Parts: sequence; structure tokens; C-alpha cells
Amino acid sequence: MSLFESKKLDFAPQKKFIKDLQVGEKTQGYYKVLNISKKNKRDGSAFLALELMDKTGRIPAKIWDNAEHYFSIIREGEIYRINGYVNEYMNRKEIKVDGLRAISSSDRDFDQNDFIEKPAFDTEKLFRDMIETIKSNLTNPYLLQLVDLFSTQYGETFKTHYGAQKIHHAYVGGLLQHTHSMVKLAIYCAHHYSLDKELLLMGVLFHDIGKMFEFDISPTVSTTMEGGLLGHIAVGNAKFLELAGKIPGFPGELSCKIQHLIISHHGEKEFGSPEVPKIPEAYVLHILDLLDSRLKIFEEVAANTETKGLFSDYIHVLDRRLYVPPKGENSES
Ligand SMILES: [Fe+2]
Ligand SMILES: [Fe+2]
Repeated sequence: MSLFESKKLDFAPQKKFIKDLQVGEKTQGYYKVLNISKKNKRDGSAFLALELMDKTGRIPAKIWDNAEHYFSIIREGEIYRINGYVNEYMNRKEIKVDGLRAISSSDRDFDQNDFIEKPAFDTEKLFRDMIETIKSNLTNPYLLQLVDLFSTQYGETFKTHYGAQKIHHAYVGGLLQHTHSMVKLAIYCAHHYSLDKELLLMGVLFHDIGKMFEFDISPTVSTTMEGGLLGHIAVGNAKFLELAGKIPGFPGELSCKIQHLIISHHGEKEFGSPEVPKIPEAYVLHILDLLDSRLKIFEEVAANTETKGLFSDYIHVLDRRLYVPPKGENSES
């Protein structure tokens, strides 16, 4: 028997994509390791917790045996051929990994394109809409120039970056979607409360730009040195100052207010803001940021939870379980 034939026999009839995995079945496929961590079982021995992805989604996985060996060979951001069994744990599907190996040239059904994360929406269109919406609400020539500089310097990265490493908007285009959504809300709030709309819009546009430098999204999502040591608030503020510095005569008071919005957007010092919001536009920015990120968590939990009961598991960031009736329950109404 040739090597090729033996490999063929070694293969499952077809590779399985994450979205097609069913609880209770065996799986064999190619999955990218997004992250891996070593933990302890009750008896003190080690096991590994992983997060895997392909173009169809993500799934947690566990390696219960030979944890030390696998921990020494598995690299985050690498793709492996994995054999396993699909379990259900905490209302989510999970792979119990039985075997794993690196990709080889004889893996004929391996396709690198299976790991390109495509956004679920048209990022070009959304970015254009965001910039046009902002500019059509601006009259200050310095701010119009600032938005143009932002687009040319950061537009390409901004379109694809994640909104967060985990929890909410953690996907390609997430930062854009989050900011675009807040732009719409900001225009409404500025009008409703008679606020400085132009200032608020600048706060929205720049509040999270530091995330483009805080963490990388390729080959895997990981904190940069800049991100870990400075955080996205300080980095974002510095990037704003850099851009504003390129515009001769940019008004100092306006710059100070925009910086205030950026640095206070987490609302409280204990959540990483060096100052609390001290003007209405800063307070609204903080609330809109909270609203948009939290509503996204509600949406993501509902989409990713398969409950047998009525409630999700405890969601730390929201400090509660969410009401998530089994899917299809309301489908007849
Ligand atoms: Fe933030
Ligand atoms: Fe944000």
C-alpha cells in the first residue's frame, strides 16, 4: 500500500466544519488554535483548554490526556488536523480532542481559505457610510480635515479590526460595526439633549482607535506590548494627538475636549479611565459605549447558547444569566 493510500484510509469521509458539528458525533477536521491554556483537574493533573476556529465559527475544545506533551507542541495561530468527539458543556458544543497533528503536504483536502475569517457584512460600505454620516454632520473645517486624515491613515485597518479580543464584537469588522452603531446613536442623542454633536462624533470615532494597536488579530488574537503596557485609552489618545498635530492651527480647547472624551469613555477610574466624564458629551459617549457593547453581548449569548432550560450560564461581564428560550420556541408566533 502506498503512503498516499494509507493516508486516504486514515481520513474521515469528509472534513467537518465547526458549524456542522453535532453533539454526540466524532469529528475529524482542520482547525486553527486561537488560544490554549493549561489548567488543573481536581486531582491536580493538567488538562488543556483551547479555542478553535475555521471560517464557519469557533468552538471550545479540551485535551484531557498528555496535556504537558500537547502544551509543548501546540502553537497559537497554527492549524492542526484534529480528531475528537463533540460534547456539550455549559450549554455549548465543545470538542474533546483525541488526537492532533500538524498539517502535512499529503493533506489533500486542506484548504488555507477555510481559515480566512470573512466579515458577515460589507465592511467597505459600512465604513463609507460611517465616514459620510460623520462628515455630513460636521461644519468645523479642522474636524473635517481630521476625519479625512483618519480615513487615509487608519481606514484600512479600522475596517477589519476586532472591536474587542473577547466578549463583544470580537470578529473581523467588529470595531467598525461598534463605532458605526455609536455614530447613529450619537447623532440622535446630541439632537435630543442639545449637545455639541461635532465633539460627540469625534469622541465616538476616536474612542476605541487604540484597539488597533492594543492587540493583533493575526495570526491569532493577542495583546501587543503597547497594548499590555499602555492600554487602548492611552494609545488612542496619543494617536488622536498625532493626527491633530498634522493640522496647522488645530484649536487647543477642542483638542482638550476630544482627549477628555477619549480618556473618560470607560466612565470610572476603576475601569481604566484616568478621568471620569466631566462634560455631557463625555458622559453620553460612555453610556453609548456601554449600551452598544452590552446589547451586543445579549445578541451574541442568544446566538451561541443552546439551552435546554430557559437561561444562559452566568455571564460575568453582565453579572447575570440571560433569558434565552430554546431556539424555535417562538417560531410559530
Ligand atoms: Fe474602550
Ligand atoms: Fe467602545
